[in-house]
Amino acid sequence: MEIINGRGGLPMVRIETPWSAAEIYLLGASVTHFQKHGEPPLLFLSEKSRFEKDAPIRGGIPIIFPWFGKPEGKTSQHGFARVRSWELVEVTKQTDGSVIAHLSLPVSAELLAIPLDYYVTVGKTLTAELVVRNFSNHEFVFENCLHTYFTVGDINQVSVVGLQGVDYLDSLEGRARRQETSDAIRFTGEVDRLYINTPHAVEIRDASLHRTILVEKEGSASTVIWNPWIAKAKAMADFGDEEYKRMVCVESGNAAVNEITLAVGQEARLKVNLSSRPC
Ligand code: BG6
Repeated sequence: MEIINGRGGLPMVRIETPWSAAEIYLLGASVTHFQKHGEPPLLFLSEKSRFEKDAPIRGGIPIIFPWFGKPEGKTSQHGFARVRSWELVEVTKQTDGSVIAHLSLPVSAELLAIPLDYYVTVGKTLTAELVVRNFSNHEFVFENCLHTYFTVGDINQVSVVGLQGVDYLDSLEGRARRQETSDAIRFTGEVDRLYINTPHAVEIRDASLHRTILVEKEGSASTVIWNPWIAKAKAMADFGDEEYKRMVCVESGNAAVNEITLAVGQEARLKVNLSSRPC
């Protein structure tokens, strides 16, 4: 498997399997594309995304680490892992035909002794696993999230199922704590919610593409649901005005009250498996 020039001349790896194709940029270890043969792309990528060194890619699966959002005292949103250049360690073909790409984030001044590894398995489904290890001599407290943008046919015909009864922090109301009462979340305006203490899988039911996407996860206590809707879409330079209709973010991670405290010598694994079926 070779590294080729992707958009903006940025290094990228393209993976083909008997069932699917995927693209991964070394910038942020961002999986920007996954598509099963005969299906629309699973991941949404904005046509307006920048593909520039030091800037996050708008779409796919940006890796949020070591903080989520913009806590006080931080100058950037969602940490730095998504804008760093990762290294490709190896790409291996499994006997079942699936392909695993292993990337790592070189230890930096901010993260002495906290190596990050990322394993992306491309096959009938897409699996992404982020591994954080603490080789330092003190506890390490962090947040993480696989900020996954999904393609949908029409946001007006989408529902997200699996969060009924779960508490969430509403980012549109200063993270006020609420409880989800609905068995199926629908979108009629901006939604920006951080669901907490929920290890469960979530389904995205998309009536217009006749597709249900299943987001299964391990090592994740938070699920973020985000759609910018009209005004925020217009305000984002790297996102098309109408693109909010064709995407929804369902993000798996550990944020806010679910931040992780990693003891010396321990590792934390965050894993998502994304699959789809007709509905
Ligand atoms: C979501 C946040 O995870 O990411 C939103 O909950 C935020 O508040 C969105 O707007 C996009 O963030 P960014 O930094 O990629 O524009």
